[in-house]
Amino acid sequence: MAQIKNIGLFTSGGDAPGMNAAIRAVVRTALYHEIEVTGIRRGFEGMISGDFFPLNRKSVSNIIQRGGTILKTARSAQFRRPEGREAAYEQLKNFNIDALIAIGGDGTFRGVKTFAEEYPIPIIGLPGTIDNDLNGTDFTIGYDTAINTVINAVDKIRDTAESHDRLFIIEVMGRDSGMIALRTGIAAGAEGIIIPESEFGVERLFDRLANGRKDKTSRIVIVGEGDGDESKAFDIGRQVKERFPQLDTRVSILGHIQRGGKPTCMDRVLASRVGAAAVEALKIGYRGDMAGLINNEVVFTPFGHAIKHNTEIDPNLLRIVEILSL
Ligand code: F6P
Repeated sequence: MAQIKNIGLFTSGGDAPGMNAAIRAVVRTALYHEIEVTGIRRGFEGMISGDFFPLNRKSVSNIIQRGGTILKTARSAQFRRPEGREAAYEQLKNFNIDALIAIGGDGTFRGVKTFAEEYPIPIIGLPGTIDNDLNGTDFTIGYDTAINTVINAVDKIRDTAESHDRLFIIEVMGRDSGMIALRTGIAAGAEGIIIPESEFGVERLFDRLANGRKDKTSRIVIVGEGDGDESKAFDIGRQVKERFPQLDTRVSILGHIQRGGKPTCMDRVLASRVGAAAVEALKIGYRGDMAGLINNEVVFTPFGHAIKHNTEIDPNLLRIVEILSL
């Protein structure tokens, strides 16, 4: 096994709070083991164009507490094509980069999975996405911060909902994954949660609104955005207004506020642990896995298994939503 001398590090896909903490952990751990780190700007896009720069101890000072990513990020259509991946590999060879650490979500891992199958380069992934929709880790970097941002916003909406006796339908992020909606719905005391994975759909909500307690003064319904082009919340809001004209209904879409802000302590610790583990895994020969935390232990999961559509919603969480919102 050849000794690794220069790790290329990049963030890709939607940014997530805690990505900077992960970058810092990778750089500092690599330097500790006398391995160089090359930063790659804007994910796969920068890899293809050779937008590389050296990262040192100082370049990652004072970033652990910052949201966003100092490496910038992008979604790359070019890398989905074989010519794009070939160009990227040539750039890596030219810059003597002999391993990669990728921080991102589902799309990123699909990209590196193919790349690792096609080219002889070891790659470790770190789960960086607010969506928490990857297998092989209990939580992804950014999820804890995002759900805390959501409940802060929903608590504020609850104040005005209560003053006006209104029903609010609030859309949260999570492309075809209801993980953000599920936890924030429980934490905000929602009347209903509508997520792609659950049967608690619009009809169940209508049933509760028709037959549930009538003395409620404010009601919150949390809707996961899903992967369609249209806003789910507006659609549901329209239906609720038609069926229940007596309810004063408003729709609120939280949007990209969920992706920003200072990472929570949980996200910084998660990012630091898996970031350090990724470098040490490369040193001992891992080459196509994501580093995650399960039951507070670092575990490695092959990319093919980490990517979503494998994640499952805990039915107990869904059950208590209904019990607790009686
Ligand atoms: O993957 C993270 C995420 O925030 C999803 O929850 C959301 O659907 C998507 O990114 C939005 O992406 P963009 O910022 O590119 O519109």
